[in-house]
Amino acid sequence: MESLVVKGNTELVGRVKISGSKNAAVAVLPAAILSPGTIYLENLPDITDVQTLMAILDYLGVKIRRRGRNAVELSTANLSRIAPPYDMVKKMRASYYFMGSLLGRFGRAVVPIPGGCDLGPRPIDQHLKGFSALGSKINIEHGMITLTAEKLVGARIYFDVVSIGATINLMLAAVSAEGRTILENVAKEPEIVDVANFLNAMGASIRGAGTDVIRIEGVKSFSGAKHAIIPDRIEAGTFMLAAAASRGTVTVDEVIPKHLEAITAKLRETGAEVLVEPESITVKGKAELKPSDLKTFPYPGFPTDLQPPAMVLLTVAKGLSVITENVFDGRYNHVEELKRMGARIKVEGRTALIEGGKTLTGAPVSAPDLRSGAALMIAALIADGDSTISDVKHIDRGYELFEEKLTQLGATIRRKKAEEPSQLAGGSE
Ligand code: EPZ
Repeated sequence: MESLVVKGNTELVGRVKISGSKNAAVAVLPAAILSPGTIYLENLPDITDVQTLMAILDYLGVKIRRRGRNAVELSTANLSRIAPPYDMVKKMRASYYFMGSLLGRFGRAVVPIPGGCDLGPRPIDQHLKGFSALGSKINIEHGMITLTAEKLVGARIYFDVVSIGATINLMLAAVSAEGRTILENVAKEPEIVDVANFLNAMGASIRGAGTDVIRIEGVKSFSGAKHAIIPDRIEAGTFMLAAAASRGTVTVDEVIPKHLEAITAKLRETGAEVLVEPESITVKGKAELKPSDLKTFPYPGFPTDLQPPAMVLLTVAKGLSVITENVFDGRYNHVEELKRMGARIKVEGRTALIEGGKTLTGAPVSAPDLRSGAALMIAALIADGDSTISDVKHIDRGYELFEEKLTQLGATIRRKKAEEPSQLAGGSE
């Protein structure tokens, strides 16, 4: 198990280029199999979630030609399988998008029940309710979900819960359903809009992505398409929060500031200085940060994926801050690890109380999931003394060249192979 040894007391200074959005890429790649043409994708982040999806596409019979680190050409004319393999699917929850795209193209999909981060219960009832409304039969046994439909017919679907996954999955199935589908109470994240733009580039007819209601006219066939993935607003927000927490000055380049308005507003509320330009944002941390109350909500609210990094920032702000996690039941895996570094945090249900102002101390910690891992990295950078972060595979899933980008900003980070002895006093192997 690899780990990262991180030097503390670091002030981050400089510029960093933000990569393509993980959460758009993990939907666009499965969506590509809707078309029998050639798909050319640019600005794909080089992360393990994308590598896993490429391996699944290859297994299904897609011809893949890499065009550099962040671009790929897919030929999906001759798919040989319609059931992604369990050992690949269990690595990432977003594999469930193969349900919508395989059902949309073949009228049949066999997908293992998805795995993913441990953020509390993560049902897919809204996905299945939607597929059933379009006319799919659903059979769940032996841990596999089998979807079959003689014909998909457009329907009006009202989601009980605002869900990014369900919204995208139903777009993938509805674009080739007969007639009109209306999706209501949908997620409005920028990634939804990016996937809709990609599907329309292939010949779909989707209107309203980014609003509460999406209207889809089914089409009979799709063409090849070329698409560039939008920038990753969660990666950008991670670096913005890290800049403020380290009291440094960091510019994130190649971003869409509109996607980061909630983070910009919250940073300004804590006293950080934020300069917004057309394609970049500069964050200047301040010696004295103010405590703040933070509530996570679906877009355009403050994103749940930045709640763990934001909690680290609030451990710096002297005084009491309150976080309310409204999207997931159990998204506080990072708290116990931060407390090992001296953070004073109390969790009651969906609420976390943070008594900020006491400098964190370096310690051996473990990343329980992707965004907790990012939070622990920020904590290690600002702590007094060095830290070792184990289970780094979680971070590798969603942050391209994370160590390299942080090193560019002044961090000192060394990746340690599993067998190396720990150099930290009290480090547990
Ligand atoms: C997406 O997950 C993201 N993943 C998550 O990012 C993100 O945290 C989450 O949206 C919320 O923003 C990808 O886009 C690949 P949801 P998803 O369906 O689609 C409940 C990261 O770190 N729900 O929007 O799985 C669910 O339990 C990851 O990049 C149902 O009840 O999330 C949750 O409470 C972590 N029934 C809420 O809705 C359903 O059928 C939002 O979940 C589906 C969801």
